[in-house]
Amino acid sequence: MLSPEIQTHRKPGYPINPIIHNRWSPRAMTGEEMSDAELMPLFEAARWAPSSYNGQPWRFLYAKRNTPNWDLFYNLMVDVNKQWTKNASVLLVVISHKVFEKNNKPSVTHSYDTGSAWMSLALEGSSRGYVVHGMQGFDYEKARKDLQIPDEYQVEAMAAIGKRAPKESLPPEIQEKEFPSDRKPLNTIIFEGKFH
Ligand SMILES: Cc1cc2nc3c(=O)[nH]c(=O)nc-3n(C[C@H](O)[C@H](O)[C@H](O)COP(=O)(O)O)c2cc1C
Repeated sequence: MLSPEIQTHRKPGYPINPIIHNRWSPRAMTGEEMSDAELMPLFEAARWAPSSYNGQPWRFLYAKRNTPNWDLFYNLMVDVNKQWTKNASVLLVVISHKVFEKNNKPSVTHSYDTGSAWMSLALEGSSRGYVVHGMQGFDYEKARKDLQIPDEYQVEAMAAIGKRAPKESLPPEIQEKEFPSDRKPLNTIIFEGKFH
């Protein structure tokens, strides 16, 4: 079952699972709180992601709106992200463990593994009708300092999670961007054989 906005804006070249087809990153959110019953399944989905040696290097630091931690996370973001994330229910900072716990050796794939966990979280959230929107627009060093993230963890990205609101609730300049984006053609991202 595809949402109307996806039907209008996204035409895959081959049929794909609707959970993947339907996911996108809206910005309009209601400003409501989310309960643990609503939120935890998203983290649970992330938990089951694959990783090299099953090392599970992902960690999720989060703040719920109307709690003391909120400002700590909110103040990390650039103004353009603050404009719409003010109505999020939850803000996340995603970090990855750069070494394997079992032997302290460097992991080559800590970011790659953590990216797959983030995508599981995003798919679980979007399939439940929530906004899950990744962000790079924040101060990475401030995040490390203010959230007391140890050196052996890499700060990867932030994300906003919330309940969807009509796009009319956004400021006009953000409203303009509130539709599912397109993608590069498949034949420009795959190579049978050597890179060409
Ligand atoms: C790691 C990451 C960082 C992003 N940073 C931002 C950001 O700072 N602000 C923003 O509005 N969107 C941000 N986005 C959203 C992307 O622009 C969006 O995912 C991309 O345009 C594809 O659109 P879609 O997610 O709707 O399919 C980010 C997404 C990811 C995955």
